[in-house]
Amino acid sequence: MKRILISLCMMAVTAFAAGAQAQSRSPVSDVEAMREMMRGFNPRGQAGLSRLVQDEAQQFCSDPGWRRNKARIAAIEKQQLAAVKYPADGKLMGNWQAGERVAQSGAGKQFSDNPSQPSGANCYACHQLSPQELSYGTIGPSLRNFGKTRGTSEAIQRYAYAKIYNARAYSVCSNMPRFGHSEILTEQQIKDVVALLLDPNSPVNK
Ligand code: HEC
Repeated sequence: MKRILISLCMMAVTAFAAGAQAQSRSPVSDVEAMREMMRGFNPRGQAGLSRLVQDEAQQFCSDPGWRRNKARIAAIEKQQLAAVKYPADGKLMGNWQAGERVAQSGAGKQFSDNPSQPSGANCYACHQLSPQELSYGTIGPSLRNFGKTRGTSEAIQRYAYAKIYNARAYSVCSNMPRFGHSEILTEQQIKDVVALLLDPNSPVNK
């Protein structure tokens, strides 16, 4: 299995390198770097090595010169946005209390987690949200008063849902996980987190 994955990665890297302009930026080639990564990680349970295989957007962002390629930034963002699956029932806001629990939980997707249990989103690891939670990271902007300042229009609900579903739809090389796209959160969990951000009764907006 590991061997198949390594050759898959090599194929991806070679295809990418062939497509990109020849640009020598490091004495270590992409193929060598990927080989070392594959050697360095051990697959265990649900945490398999397939996670090291980059999709098109990730490959693009691994190129240090990505910021200069405005046309591809726009094209990839458009393609990521087009792949967002909005809820069939048209309702984008769930329950903020459930959303707070999702935002607080950092469980899920690790080899030691039970894959049949729902994952959390760990939003607080990167964002300030409810003022009651004093411990939060600052990699992402503060989301305090998000609904109060942006309102709860259909357009804002769709933006919040899509941003959580796939952050790269609006910021191609975002550090934020793609919660829907990568199947970390369920549709209901994303709705609940949207409510945490937008519901006027949510502590985020108090
Ligand atoms: C690993 C860090 C990380 C995690 C975890 C994370 N985010 Fe983010 N988020 C970011 C970063 C960085 C940005 C700014 C860059 C961008 O827009 O993608 C951001 C941007 C956002 C924005 C856009 C802000 C704006 O002004 O429009 C929203 C909304 C957001 N995050 C919501 C969430 C929610 C809700 C969660 C949990 C479900 C979450 N984030 C989890 C890193 C993270």
